[in-house]
Amino acid sequence: MTDPAAAAWHRLAETSVLLDGFHALKHALRFGAEVPLAVTTDREAALALAAELAPDVRDTLDALLTEVPDDTYRSFVPRPHPTAVAALAVRPAREANLRKLGHTPRSAPVIVLDHPRNLGNAGAVIRLAAGFGATGVVTTGTLDPWHPTVVRAGAGLHYATAVERLTIDELPSGPVFALDPEGDDIRSLKLPDDAVLAFGSERSGLSTELRARTDHLVALPMRPQVSSYNLATSVAMTLYHWSTSTAAPL
Ligand SMILES: C[S@@+](CC[C@H](N)C(=O)[O-])C[C@H]1O[C@@H](n2cnc3c(N)ncnc32)[C@H](O)[C@@H]1O
Repeated sequence: MTDPAAAAWHRLAETSVLLDGFHALKHALRFGAEVPLAVTTDREAALALAAELAPDVRDTLDALLTEVPDDTYRSFVPRPHPTAVAALAVRPAREANLRKLGHTPRSAPVIVLDHPRNLGNAGAVIRLAAGFGATGVVTTGTLDPWHPTVVRAGAGLHYATAVERLTIDELPSGPVFALDPEGDDIRSLKLPDDAVLAFGSERSGLSTELRARTDHLVALPMRPQVSSYNLATSVAMTLYHWSTSTAAPL
């Protein structure tokens, strides 16, 4: 007879967001994700972890977590997580995210990743955007910002900001500050709260279409002979620079 948790998992998996590991589930719950199903191979251990690291979600997890055999858990996830916790969450409606991204006046920037290629970078950027309270993260191009590897790298923090894939024509309004080593030194600039902060792809930098939408080209300080920084670290420096001059609460 099929395990009821396995039947529910297979029914929901196709249309849900996989939260892989305790921390992804913890973050998603903190930021209001709807989680119809969460499993673990060891309820007692998972609840002990919650009591230690996240007492705010312990009771929610107590009500939510179903214990399943190790084989069943392993059949749900591509790579078993050390915490042996996995969950399925409802993806936020695109319309709701578009409303958040388009809402004005904006109190924190929108990050645009122009044709990103690396799923780990995209997840790291979503985690940064969540930490700095950015309005959202928009990707252009073919990478799916809700790909399970991106969600795993983002530690479930997709639920703490608005994450969508858009075309350049659909970008939210606001002055576009595009990051490029040829731009003006960021240290001489104040980045406004309604900025659209755009970053180029790991391989080829900013696209022609994005450059055409750009109002200001901005450079991060970098010694000669170093060609560029990693995409996610560039976003980190830029958000940190914005945070030093904003009145927006973090
Ligand atoms: C790995 S870099 C892209 C390198 C790429 N080979 C190129 O031709 O630009 C990814 C993105 O990070 C940002 N970036 C990296 N280093 C930067 C710097 N020193 N100043 C401003 N932006 C930078 C830019 O947005 C860049 O497009």
